[in-house]
Amino acid sequence: MTILITGGAGYIGSHTARLLQQQGRDLVVLDSMEYGQPKAIQGIPLEVGDIADEALVGRICKQYGVTSVVHFAAYKFVGESMEQPHRYWQNNVAGTVALLNALRTAGVQHLVFSSSCSIYGTPEHVPVSESAAIQPASVYAETKAMVERILGWQSELTDFSSVSLRYFNASGAHPKGDIGEVWDRAQNLIPLVMKAALGRSGPLQVRGNDYPTPDGTGVRDYVHVCDLAEAHAAALDYLRDGGKVRAFNVGTGKGYSVLEVLAAAERAAGGPIPHEFAPRRPGDVAAVWGDTTLARTELAWYAVRGLDDIVRTAWNWHLHHPDGYA
Ligand code: WQD
Repeated sequence: MTILITGGAGYIGSHTARLLQQQGRDLVVLDSMEYGQPKAIQGIPLEVGDIADEALVGRICKQYGVTSVVHFAAYKFVGESMEQPHRYWQNNVAGTVALLNALRTAGVQHLVFSSSCSIYGTPEHVPVSESAAIQPASVYAETKAMVERILGWQSELTDFSSVSLRYFNASGAHPKGDIGEVWDRAQNLIPLVMKAALGRSGPLQVRGNDYPTPDGTGVRDYVHVCDLAEAHAAALDYLRDGGKVRAFNVGTGKGYSVLEVLAAAERAAGGPIPHEFAPRRPGDVAAVWGDTTLARTELAWYAVRGLDDIVRTAWNWHLHHPDGYA
């Protein structure tokens, strides 16, 4: 009854691995360590390698008695995916196909997939529900939509069943303060706010304050990484109990603007955070947050942490680990 966590040495993966370990579940992490952090998964069995290595995945499944998989391993930078699409097709899609081949050979039939709200592109309505149009606006988002479709066919044609979790804006850090997001490549708002707050960068660039939103800045659904970890545990139980293939939005169902995030971060940091207004970021939508009713009814999951938990734990992590795990 071991769970294989691909990409488990990453940001969301390590927080999920810790929770599953605390729940007494047997785990093994497979991570290429291209971006993975060994210190983020201390005490958890780690196999270093590529999800596309079918022989390696087969050996791991046999050796550890793998019965289910949480699949995080993927490249995740929207901008990078538009500059280097081939790497994203190869790793995120072809890599997952090879993983699925190895799992089929090993007889593993349950998988929780790390998907993304970015597959909705610019939604027609907010809050956005799982029935909204799938219209990816980036190669990264397209790879997530493609894998969801492959998983759908797998469940149609075989006994394989999966859950796709469509993350909104993953953020925050573990309350213990010893694991968190590595910010050196981060383009996301909250790590960049913390960099500005800690003087590790210039002023935060508020990208656009002329959006049709209450204060003119972009609105997003920020969900705590520990809430996301709990959603993965709930999804594993859903599959164990015979749940059918589904996709679920995992967010808070509430949107906050950039200026609201900044104000919350200033409360956590105990003072003003340097910032200046800058032009909109190409491709950004004005406002998006999730309708999370389905996860609440089908997974009995909902986010219990709010924006203050996010900025407080992010501040604590970055304040004490300005160089991440180095
Ligand atoms: C948030 C808001 C920016 C940086 C991300 C991931 C995507 C998906 C959802 C997982 C926007 C503003 C940002 C800055 C700013 N997650 N901003 N100054 O674009 O919603 O998407 O979460 O798959 O993959 O990319 O997140 O954090 O980049 O931006 O004003 O320096 O902050 O305009 O309104 P985004 P983000």
